[in-house]
Amino acid sequence: MAGTRGEFSSRLGFILAASGSAVGLGNIWGFPTQAASNGGAAFLLMYLLMAFMLAYPALMAELIIGRHAKANIVTALRQVSGNGLTRFIGSLTGFAGIITASLILAFYGIVAGWMIAFAAAPMASTIGAEGVASWLTGFGNERNLVFMLIFMLMTSLIISGGVRNGIEKWSSRLMPVLLIILVGLIGYVLTLPGAMEGVKVYLLPDFGRSFNFQLIVNALGQAFFSLSLGVGTMLIYGSYISKKENIASLGRAITLIDIGIAVLAGMLIIPAMYVAQHNGVEIFDAGGKLIAEDTLIFTVLPALFDTMGGTGVVIGFSFFVLMTIAALTSSISMLEAPVSYVNEVHGLSRRASSFLVSGIIAVISVLIVFNFGDLFGLVINLTTRYAQPLLGLMLCLFAGWIWHRNQVLEEIKAGFEQAEQSLFWRIWPVYIRYVCPLAILTVFGQKVLG
Ligand code: TRP
Repeated sequence: MAGTRGEFSSRLGFILAASGSAVGLGNIWGFPTQAASNGGAAFLLMYLLMAFMLAYPALMAELIIGRHAKANIVTALRQVSGNGLTRFIGSLTGFAGIITASLILAFYGIVAGWMIAFAAAPMASTIGAEGVASWLTGFGNERNLVFMLIFMLMTSLIISGGVRNGIEKWSSRLMPVLLIILVGLIGYVLTLPGAMEGVKVYLLPDFGRSFNFQLIVNALGQAFFSLSLGVGTMLIYGSYISKKENIASLGRAITLIDIGIAVLAGMLIIPAMYVAQHNGVEIFDAGGKLIAEDTLIFTVLPALFDTMGGTGVVIGFSFFVLMTIAALTSSISMLEAPVSYVNEVHGLSRRASSFLVSGIIAVISVLIVFNFGDLFGLVINLTTRYAQPLLGLMLCLFAGWIWHRNQVLEEIKAGFEQAEQSLFWRIWPVYIRYVCPLAILTVFGQKVLG
């Protein structure tokens, strides 16, 4: 299929697509709630450290391998491996990545479907369809199924459009909207009574907690999930970057945008919780901890919007549209990982590959929907807590040990002539060879054993 491969039309096109992948439910939901339950700014500081010291180097590994090979993760890892055994390990790692990306999409699609349902609910109640509204917001198999399917269809329609007409076009449309809604909501929430208390909780560090090991584990996991690492999504986006671009600076831009949006989202969610408390909504659980996870998003925040009357309808709608957009620009990157493989290696057209792969993933989602108690948490745990860090580790080993150092340098130099004298080249090779693998192993070992 060489020659017909897609490529992002510009630097900005890549930045919007890749930051669209990175910015997702992990930023707007995961990061703020983790910060809230892990000492506010103490978590933020540890997160910044993990993101720059470990996730950014790992992101660079994926982008560089991807752009060099100009191929999906399986072909790419085979290509940078020398002999038979490493090639075989490359194939295995690539397949594991594709399967992990698919499984992540299988649960992510269900959660994203809830966002659409919750965006539709305020409209249903406005027109007096209370029965519909409560169906939309109540937990049920039918609702979960219908909205998961709608979301999967949207994802596969975008991916069937290809790199420029699908991924780039939609990321460029949706990311600015996301930013506008986010900033608008923050501006509004900060004017409400109670908000400032939330700002304090969020921004004043509780330093006693930043050195606790669990916090480091959480921060690293959050950084890896948020930068979409380990499963080949960033690798495949990297493969669509033109050779003219300076890849180190692109990676830095993505990392900064991802962190920036997460921090901004915290300025929305945490103050909103304290506004909710001010309006009489319970925000602490029985143990005195801030309510987090799904209860926060689907109970506390809607309860807040309810206390706001007519404005609440608009705010609630905007909030869940924001969540849906964030999820969609991420889900397309998950789907692109397996689709690019089927398309490039098995020669199936992009359209056929998109619908075939998303169909298979939707079947997995259906299984999860109907066995929710058994499968939902299990799949999340297996993919994000185990597979993702291990695959991230493998990709560091490929970039740091298996692939030739000179070829790595050549690839970076393609769009960055002075690369050899740069700060990046003085630090990154050491990081990717020693620091990242050891850090991931330490954190992972602790998680498995402890
Ligand atoms: N980074 C996205 C988020 O924060 C999710 C995501 C997209 C992802 N692609 C991924 C997570 C690949 C893991 C692997 O929500």
